[in-house]
Amino acid sequence: MKNTGPIGVFDSGYGGLTVLKEITAQLPQYDYLYMGDNARAPYGPRSFQQVYEYTLEAVEWFFKQGCSLVVLACNTASAKALRTIQQNDLERIGAGKRVLGVIRPTAEVIGNYTKTGHVGVLGTKGTITSDSYILEIEKFFPEIKVQQEACPMWVPLIESNEHHKPGADYFVKQHINTLLGKDSEIDTILLGCTHYPLLMKKLSWFIPSGVEVVEQGKIVALSLADYLGRHPEIAEKCSTGADIQFYTTGETADFDEHAAIFFGKSIKSGHLEL
Ligand code: DGL
Repeated sequence: MKNTGPIGVFDSGYGGLTVLKEITAQLPQYDYLYMGDNARAPYGPRSFQQVYEYTLEAVEWFFKQGCSLVVLACNTASAKALRTIQQNDLERIGAGKRVLGVIRPTAEVIGNYTKTGHVGVLGTKGTITSDSYILEIEKFFPEIKVQQEACPMWVPLIESNEHHKPGADYFVKQHINTLLGKDSEIDTILLGCTHYPLLMKKLSWFIPSGVEVVEQGKIVALSLADYLGRHPEIAEKCSTGADIQFYTTGETADFDEHAAIFFGKSIKSGHLEL
């Protein structure tokens, strides 16, 4: 049996591609296996138990494909499933393997962006109600004030390709204004959902120019590079052929069309039943 395999990258749908794009730019030498659970997206409104079960199924699938390292490029899965998988399941389903999320690496650096010490976080209902960002940012930057806002319509708008149409403006504006209305000193807005970079253009219309909008892709990519540097025992289990494979639990034609936008290159996905 081969003892190396690709790095797994998981999201409920297309959003993780914004992270994969930056990871492959930062670490082009590795092989990657991306899987989007489009058939069951969005995860945002789902219960803890359901997100945990779906994410666990996905992680088990990645391990069966030979991955030793899986990145949950999904804030909702990172918020609701990561800790339980790491603490309760990993030993049983993949001793010696690793599952990493996107919330902690983002929380570790977000305080470096703000000058006022006031940060706003936008995310799915699941991520926001978990308070994961508040708890994680507090560990690294206890002096920073964090306000959050759930944007339940944004992922469905993006997954259905409606986000660039004028009808989406109302929902984008509404949440930006509500967040900024909670604290007028916010000078940094974190996009705490990997789908949201797709709204960047629209966000720039409605967010005042003095407020910096922070995407996670590069942050997660740099953190992963650092992690692999500190953990050669994991890095040596990751194969290096610069190959990238894509799978979706949804329609492959839809996936390929969206992926070209999210990933910036045309791709050909395979279908997967979980
Ligand atoms: N990209 C996922 C995240 O970062 C989207 C979640 C969803 O499916 O609702 O949270």
